[in-house]
Amino acid sequence: MHITFVWRRGAARIGEHAVIVCLCKGVTDRRIRREAAAGHSLDEVFRRTGAGSGCGSCRLAVARIVAEARAAAKGAERPAAATAKQDAA
Ligand code: FES
Repeated sequence: MHITFVWRRGAARIGEHAVIVCLCKGVTDRRIRREAAAGHSLDEVFRRTGAGSGCGSCRLAVARIVAEARAAAKGAERPAAATAKQDAA
């Protein structure tokens, strides 16, 4: 697994590399996505991972990743009929 360090750059890239989003606590984008996919709220993600509890500069990036993960999960949960209807339009 490759690790890319990101310093105050906002949301992490999506890809095969793990990106350290919170340098203070060493929390990666993968960990944040996993927590969000498990249904944890943003506050729970902060609490469970420790992200955002140091200098706080990663908090916006964490929030964006959680929002992206939720949007992706919602898209994946769309019923097949709704997906077919949208695709036909
Ligand atoms: S980088 Fe996350 S708390 Fe400092």
